[in-house]
Amino acid sequence: MPAGSMEELVSLCKRRGFIFQGSEIYGGLQGFYDYGPLGVELKNNIKAAWWRSNVYERDDMEGLDASIIMHRMVLRHSGHEATFSDPMIDNKKNNKRYRLDHLLKDQKPDVQKKVAELMGEDADNFAALVAALNTRPTQASAAFKEAGVRDPFSGEVGEWTEPKPFNMMFKTTIGPVADEESYGYLRPETAQGIFTNFKNVVDSTSRRLPFGIAQIGKAFRNEITPRNFIFRVRELEQMEIEFFCAPGTDEEWHEHWLEKRLKWWEDQGVPRGKIEILDVPREDLAHYSKRTYDLMYDYPTLGHEEIEGIANRSDYDLGSHTKAQGELGLVAKVEENSDSIAKLTIPHPETNKPVVPFVIEPSAGVDRAMLAVLSEAFTKETLDNGNERIVLKLKPHLAPIKVAVIPLARNKEEITSVAKRIKAELQGLGLGRVLYEDSGNIGKAYRRHDEVGTPFCVTVDFDTVGKGEDTALVDTVTVRDRDTLAQERVKISDLGAWIQNKLR
Ligand code: GAP
Repeated sequence: MPAGSMEELVSLCKRRGFIFQGSEIYGGLQGFYDYGPLGVELKNNIKAAWWRSNVYERDDMEGLDASIIMHRMVLRHSGHEATFSDPMIDNKKNNKRYRLDHLLKDQKPDVQKKVAELMGEDADNFAALVAALNTRPTQASAAFKEAGVRDPFSGEVGEWTEPKPFNMMFKTTIGPVADEESYGYLRPETAQGIFTNFKNVVDSTSRRLPFGIAQIGKAFRNEITPRNFIFRVRELEQMEIEFFCAPGTDEEWHEHWLEKRLKWWEDQGVPRGKIEILDVPREDLAHYSKRTYDLMYDYPTLGHEEIEGIANRSDYDLGSHTKAQGELGLVAKVEENSDSIAKLTIPHPETNKPVVPFVIEPSAGVDRAMLAVLSEAFTKETLDNGNERIVLKLKPHLAPIKVAVIPLARNKEEITSVAKRIKAELQGLGLGRVLYEDSGNIGKAYRRHDEVGTPFCVTVDFDTVGKGEDTALVDTVTVRDRDTLAQERVKISDLGAWIQNKLR
C-alpha cells in the first residue's frame, strides 16, 4: 500500500476540490489557499473532532471565539512587537528575499559546513549556527559570500546582504483616520485572545484552577518564504488551548497534555510511530516558553516537521499583561468602575491567595493537520484485476462525504425518486454530508468516491424498485464498503441503523 508523494497529494487536492491556490484567477497569491467543497468539509470535521475531544469530553474546559484584529497594546505587551520575527536576507543581484535558516538548509552540505567553519560554529548544531549568523550579521554576510551560498531561485552564487530581523505580524489601520494611533494587528496566534479574556471567562463561569480555554480560529503570519503547499502559509488556522494551573503543577500538566495530544492524533489516523517528540533546545525556545515539546510529523517529501507545539508558557503572558495594565494605569480605572479588577489573577487552590497562573499550551495548526490526515489516508492499491486505484482511507468521522446515494439509471424516475428519498432520510440522521450522486456511470462514481474517501456508496437499482429479475431484492439496496470493496444487500428500512453502526 504505497503512500503518496507531496506532488500526488497536491494534484488530488486540486482535482477533487479539496484545496485551491488563493486568488488563482489573477495568478495566485503566495502563502494563501482556499478550501474547496470537500476541503471545507474535511477541515470542519477535523475542527469538530478537536472541539469534541478537548471541550465536550472534558469537564475542565471552556470555549472562546475572540476577534482577529487586536489592539496594538496586546501584541506589544505579549512580546510579539519586539520578538515575533524571523531572520531575513536579500540577494542584491535579483532582489529575492529569503528566510536565513531556510536558505542555509537549501544549501549543499559542504557549503553549510564552510559557513559554519567561517563562523567558528559546529555545522551539526544548526540552531546555534543560525543564532550566530543572526547576532553577527556582518560576519554572516561575508561567510555567505566566501562559502558560495547559492540563490535557490537562480541557482547562482548570491550577493548577500547582512541578515536582519523581519517582524511577521500583519499591521492594519482601523477606522477612517490613518494616523500613528489607529493601527492594530491581525493576531499571529489565537492565544492572545484567550489571555485578554481570561478575567471575563473566570468571572462569567466561576472557574477555579486548574481549567482551560479552547479556541479555534485564524491567525496571520507574513512568512518570508511560505512554501510546501499548506504547510507554511500566511493565513493559517490554529486549534489552541491555554490550560491554566497553579505554579508548581505546570510540569505535571505539561506531560498530561503531551499524552492527550498524541492520543488525539492517533484517533485521527496519524499514528504515534509517525510523530517524533522534540524537546526544543533552550536556544530555540520562543520568548514566552519555559519548555516546549514540538510534535514532529513525518510529512511526505518534507520529512519530520512541526505539526503541533505543546509549550509551558509559565506565567509570562498573564504576568506581562498584568504588569502593563498597572503601568498604563488601567487597573485603577477598572477598579473604580466595576467590581472586577483587571489584574489577571485567580485564587490559588490551596492558599486562596491571588496568583498569576501558569499556562500549558497545546497549539496545533488546522492546515498542517489537514496535510497529515490526507497524507496518512492517501493509498494506492493494485486490485485483483490488475487495475490501480487511489483511495483516501480517512477515518469515517473525518470523511467529507459519509454516504453517496447513487441511482443506477439517471433517467428512470422510479429509481431516482427512491434514491432521493434515501438521501433525505440518511441526511436527517445527522451523520454529516450525504450526497445524491448522479454525475456519471457507476464505475466512475465509485472511483471518485474512493479518491475523496467516502466510506459507503449506496446504489439503488432495478431490483430495488421491483423492475429486476430477483423479487427477493425489492426494497433493498447495495452498499459498497470503500476499504474492503465488499458489496452487501441491505434492506432500505434497516439502512440508517446499519450505516450508523458501521460509522461508529
Ligand atoms: N500560540 C503558540 C503558537 O502559535 P507556534 O509553534 O508558532 O506556536 C503553533 O504555532 C502551530 O501553528 C504550529 O505547530 C503549526 O501547526 C501551526 N503553524 C504555525 N505557523 C504556521 C504557518 N505559517 N503555516 C501553517 N501552520 C502554521
